[in-house]
Amino acid sequence: MARNESLHKASVAKQDEFYTQIADIERELVHYEEHFRDKVIFCNCDDPAYSNFWRYFQLKFYQLGLNKLVSTHFEPNAPSYKMEIVRKERGEQIGIPDYVQTPLKGNGDFRSEECIEILEEADIVVTNPPFSLFREYLAQLIEYEKKFVIIAPLNCVTYKEVFPLFKGNRIWCGYGFLGGNAYFATEPKYDYADGVYDSKTGLVKFRNVLWVTNLDIPKRHEELSLVKQYCGHEENYPKYDNYDAIEVGKLVDIPCDYDGVMGVPITFLDKYNPEQFEILDMNPHFFMLIQRGEPKPKQLTLKSIGAKDPYARILIRRKS
Ligand SMILES: C[S@@+](CC[C@H](N)C(=O)[O-])C[C@H]1O[C@@H](n2cnc3c(N)ncnc32)[C@H](O)[C@@H]1O
Repeated sequence: MARNESLHKASVAKQDEFYTQIADIERELVHYEEHFRDKVIFCNCDDPAYSNFWRYFQLKFYQLGLNKLVSTHFEPNAPSYKMEIVRKERGEQIGIPDYVQTPLKGNGDFRSEECIEILEEADIVVTNPPFSLFREYLAQLIEYEKKFVIIAPLNCVTYKEVFPLFKGNRIWCGYGFLGGNAYFATEPKYDYADGVYDSKTGLVKFRNVLWVTNLDIPKRHEELSLVKQYCGHEENYPKYDNYDAIEVGKLVDIPCDYDGVMGVPITFLDKYNPEQFEILDMNPHFFMLIQRGEPKPKQLTLKSIGAKDPYARILIRRKS
């Protein structure tokens, strides 16, 4: 199906049609290469005709030493197909890999029986899934105990089904995007706020996406350098009035000598090393920040995250 036609069909349903650029994929996946060797990779929201995830793995199939690459894609109202590349026997591995295209019975929905069958055989799932189905999408990966590297909406961190996975060290942030801009190819028909869509490049800008994975990566073991002190500077760390924790408004201000609980911005997840900190909670109560000098304490909610809510916090403690 032509890309525009496909875009149109999906736009009727949900605004899920954002296409990841190959440079972003390369920048992220370079950190996972050792995990891919001899593995079956499944891109289950990816039309091989134009997905850059498919393109990336196809181009690097032998370099990464993949065992198999499978891609299925979603046709809202029509049967779809799966595309595969299987490793050839030793001695035959020269040249362009062979593709095998097989029709699917259904429309390629990642939740369908036939796509779940492919999922069960896969080792690692790598894609940018539809954000409108993100909860279900992640739940399925967890249920089938799959390894994965996926792009996620930043606010998934606050979902009641997702935050416990971060807290329990079952998933964590990858390298890219968080705190910066991410650009995806899309079509102009969605309603964008000014400055979000660039008609010259066909790219839409998001600040609210991140990579999420459960593959071990070096970043996860890097220590956040703590250069600030709490002792002697208590006035810089006001206490919440209904919770025994201090407010730390910026990650650079996390003190190296405070053993209690700290409320930190959500971007902490990007620096989280489970050997250095433990995550305790998010949004457990309705917090009030005692702001010195103010007649009324300012309300501090932990409900939402992102630029609209500068006070979103997660609660952490330093490990000794
Ligand atoms: C954010 S786009 C990303 C596309 C591609 N993975 C990429 O990164 O360029 C998500 C894709 O998931 C597809 N999709 C929507 N619902 C789906 C479903 N139930 N099962 C599988 N894919 C679905 C959409 O059509 C869309 O192309």
